[in-house]
Amino acid sequence: MTNGFPSGFTWGAATASYQVEGAVSADGRGPSIWDTFAHTPGRISDGTNGDVAVEHYHRFADDIRLLADLGLTAYRFSIAWPRIMPDGLAGSANPAGLDFYRRLAEACLANGVTPYATLYHWDLPQPLEDAGGWLVRDTAYRFRDYAVAVHDGLSDVIKHWMTLNEPWCSAFLGYGNGEHAPGRTVGVDALKAAHHLLLGHGLALDAIRTEGSGGSAYGIALNPAPIHPASDSPADRDAARRIDGLRNRLFLEPLLSGQYPADVLEDTGTTEWFAAQEADLPLIAAPLDFLGVNYYCPTTVAAPDGPISTPGPSTQPGSENVVAVDTGLPTTQMGWPIQASGLRDILVAINKLAPELPLYVTENGSAYPDVVTADGQVEDDERLDYLRQHVAVCKDLVSEGFPLKGYFAWSLLDNFEWAWGYSRRFGIVYVDYATQQRIVKKSGRWLQDFLR
Ligand code: FCB
Repeated sequence: MTNGFPSGFTWGAATASYQVEGAVSADGRGPSIWDTFAHTPGRISDGTNGDVAVEHYHRFADDIRLLADLGLTAYRFSIAWPRIMPDGLAGSANPAGLDFYRRLAEACLANGVTPYATLYHWDLPQPLEDAGGWLVRDTAYRFRDYAVAVHDGLSDVIKHWMTLNEPWCSAFLGYGNGEHAPGRTVGVDALKAAHHLLLGHGLALDAIRTEGSGGSAYGIALNPAPIHPASDSPADRDAARRIDGLRNRLFLEPLLSGQYPADVLEDTGTTEWFAAQEADLPLIAAPLDFLGVNYYCPTTVAAPDGPISTPGPSTQPGSENVVAVDTGLPTTQMGWPIQASGLRDILVAINKLAPELPLYVTENGSAYPDVVTADGQVEDDERLDYLRQHVAVCKDLVSEGFPLKGYFAWSLLDNFEWAWGYSRRFGIVYVDYATQQRIVKKSGRWLQDFLR
């Protein structure tokens, strides 16, 4: 036992390829939708992009040593599809791309760190978007081919795999409100993107698992969140049902129960389309070895005064006018309310759907405007508090015998926070973007002491 956690509990930190790697044209990498998006004026709030990011492509060995120095024994990173298949098509696996992730995984192992790889953390090869992106079924098959190429190449050094990161974001930020790449706004058709992502997950899982890699574990990372009604009124409760449906049940139910939530399909007028996809459900619902939960905050929603739906750019197609309500909780720099008990709520809710399924917190963290003091320190007390509170929730759950197997801080390093560029820092390690110097923040030191 370490501080109330069993010795087998996994402690790690997470990053994602486009957010940290930089080196966007190195060794045959092709363009992804994030290169295109970030280079489109007006898309990124501070006008930046991931061309250089935090140079993790060149500095990964030092970064992994730093992670190990913090006492962490797992590193969750993502593999950039356009490094492996620059044009997105099978038959084009780029050896230099595979070799980079082999060196990265080997650096982990040499430092006593277990690599946890995510196959898709949002960097779709641009040629696949040009062919229709996640709105077309074919992309799911291309994802399967890519997953097989990566797994064939690296399954000797990587034993923990996640197919997708947060398909809700890919579908509803990518194709719903357009806040993320590819920046499209297709209304309820964003649910088709969600289905094709889940199909890609199912196809990939089926293909890589039957390749026979004993001892490996396969999962997916979602971003479910507790959704509360602002009041007990039937209208607010209906609003919460709708948003819970889109955010949580649209993903959890097909994965864990092999069916889509009928009410969500009704709300969005997609019942008929989904009925035609029913044959995909057994593949999507194939057993997982674990489920990754990325948790940041809960959401409270209220019904609008007028009609609930007015088609237009939105992460809530069919329920566009449901409003998020400020409940007075303190917030991080993202404006996200802080409520550690929400982590318990969502893990317990998932556990009810799948009582035996091992769960991991695969991301959890907070953004604050850090400053470096005159003596070169980053005293991020608010982030430290956030971390401490959420770790405490994990500790309680584990002590109750709950099947929570690990916790990954988001993020190891400050990095390119998508549409926010470099204006939001989530790291437990500060990065001076001008010099690429790394400074362990007070929150990182706290974690190090905690794990010692
Ligand atoms: C999650 C993403 C991750 C990071 C955090 C803050 O939704 O998976 O890449 O941006 O939010």
